[in-house]
Amino acid sequence: MIKGVGIDIIEVGRIRNSAEKDPRFLQRIFTPQEITYCQGKKNKYQHLAARFASKEALFKALGKRIKWTDVDMVNLNSGKPQLNIKAKERYSFRHVHVSVSHLADYAAAVVILEEEE
Ligand SMILES: CC(C)(COP(=O)(O)OP(=O)(O)OC[C@H]1O[C@@H](n2cnc3c(N)ncnc32)[C@H](O)[C@@H]1OP(=O)(O)O)[C@@H](O)C(=O)NCCC(=O)NCCS
Repeated sequence: MIKGVGIDIIEVGRIRNSAEKDPRFLQRIFTPQEITYCQGKKNKYQHLAARFASKEALFKALGKRIKWTDVDMVNLNSGKPQLNIKAKERYSFRHVHVSVSHLADYAAAVVILEEEE
């Protein structure tokens, strides 16, 4: 059964500006693993923006905000993203699905929360 759905789109430039203005911004929003993954990419802000959008999409699907770094987007060997959520048992969903896409200027994400019947 679907418990929730969320979508978000963000300008890559907003993430770049925030990171350049505030040296603590990245650590406040992203996990060390997320930062490491994105730093290995040619356009790191595109990948960071996708992770920001996936967290915002999750908040929408959940109907509330949780701590940014309690959400860790990892990539399986295939490249497929997965959201690992700290203390997931606190929430009423069982499975979380995420898909992201990014271009030079925009990143977008969709999250679906599912509950076992
Ligand atoms: C996966 C794929 C479709 C990405 O498309 P793209 O237009 O190049 O790039 P987009 O900006 O839309 O998406 C990039 C994001 O796709 C996600 N992605 C990568 N591989 C993926 C996969 N196998 N399945 C689902 N999502 C994937 C990642 O989250 C990636 O962003 P990230 O590196 O910041 O985490 C493309 O790399 C591809 O065709 N790969 C080979 C075939 C494949 O595995 N297809 C799966 C879908 S049919």
